Amino acid sequence: MSIWNRRKAIDTASGDAAHALKKTLSWYHLVALGVGAIVGTGIYTLTGVGAGLAGPGVMLSFLVAGAVCACAALCYAELSTLIPASGSAYTYSYVAMGEPVAWFVGWSLILEYTLVCAAVAVGWSAHAQGLFQMAGFPPALLAGPHQGGVVNLPAVIISMAVAGLLALGTKESATVNMVLVVIKIAALAVFVALCLPAFDASHFTPFMPQGFAAHTVAGAGPDGVKVGVMAAASLIFFAFYGFDAVSTAAEETKNPKRDLTIGIVGSMLACTLIYMLVAAVAIGASRAEVFSKSEAPLVFILETLKHPRMAQLVALAAVVALPTVILAFMYGQSRIFFVMARDGLLPPALSRVNQKTGTPVLMTLLTGVLSAVLSGWLSLKDIAELANAGTLAAFIAVGLSVIILRVRDPSRPRVFATPLWQVVAPGAILGCLYLFSSLPAKTQLYFLYAHLIGAAVYLLYGVRRSVLARA
Ligand code: ALA
Repeated sequence: MSIWNRRKAIDTASGDAAHALKKTLSWYHLVALGVGAIVGTGIYTLTGVGAGLAGPGVMLSFLVAGAVCACAALCYAELSTLIPASGSAYTYSYVAMGEPVAWFVGWSLILEYTLVCAAVAVGWSAHAQGLFQMAGFPPALLAGPHQGGVVNLPAVIISMAVAGLLALGTKESATVNMVLVVIKIAALAVFVALCLPAFDASHFTPFMPQGFAAHTVAGAGPDGVKVGVMAAASLIFFAFYGFDAVSTAAEETKNPKRDLTIGIVGSMLACTLIYMLVAAVAIGASRAEVFSKSEAPLVFILETLKHPRMAQLVALAAVVALPTVILAFMYGQSRIFFVMARDGLLPPALSRVNQKTGTPVLMTLLTGVLSAVLSGWLSLKDIAELANAGTLAAFIAVGLSVIILRVRDPSRPRVFATPLWQVVAPGAILGCLYLFSSLPAKTQLYFLYAHLIGAAVYLLYGVRRSVLARA
């Protein structure tokens, strides 16, 4: 069979019972998993970097990125209930567009999930610096080489710690996750309440000091930083995604049709509302150009508003709760590997499920090591932008899959049908393309390199070992 004709059938996409994962999750686990994955380093740290690129117009960046993610979320909800199998965008692409595209998407997801874990680990480290200093860690071990240090050790430690927790088993981790999600949301609520009295509408002018479209700063060269509302949107996009991690849990969900719909759409809507509110009060309480310089902008704003105790509490909440984001993405990552290995595209040893914990332990730990290495030595902005490139590719594939399956199989019942799919699916695709074009040229180039390596792996291994090659 030509590789272009290797497609999974919808009804068999969830795989055989011998490789099945335990069904332990319900819809409230999934909403917690979604909120746990979405609210993280994006709002706690990148809000500042984004404000530096766009000024108060970062509000618009949130709006654009949120709208694109909302379109993608609706597409995910349709596909995850139509194809309730592990693997997320990778599996949907396998069904809709065949193996080579599925490999491209799977490789993009591996890139995304690993880099998100690394980025959040760096954001976590920014909030935990005080604790590590008190414990006597020398400055050289608290920052990567790009900040004049040797290694960002706190980021390395948290990556490995979360991988260990996850390897112990899905259910335990999901329950811990639920408690931490509550702490994270409570801290943001405190932030909003304390900023509101200091709200100053004059902070919103000039609204777009760097204009709307992304453009390279004059004299910065082809690799230079891009600024403008869209440049910030292509970075801030990081803050919104995470709902896609929920769909990777499809096979471990007790009632996938109901639970996934509530899990994906519910967590996306809740987080979008929280974000708009937090960003608005942050800008109202402080000037964008001032708090953009801080690596922990929410904590910084509370300090400038003379709430030092509350600032410490919010930092502590971030330290306690940001690991939920790493947890959700590491979980998703190990499952993507698991499904790709089950399909024969990656070595089968990677898909072995541990009898006791019911989780793919080897893959989980491997993801932890990769995340630790990246977070220990690279900068947050670079990691987040490359993660965004991988995510955008996956979202584009999801939009395309909705359109293709609607055309190819229009009469198949859909538990959740994307409303106005003729507008929403192309909206997701075009929005993601615009965001991708707004990323720095350097990021786009790294994305290309990563996929050249991916194509080589596919041609050397998966193309012959694929289960469908033996069909
Ligand atoms: N949305 C997640 C975060 O902001 C990735 O940390």
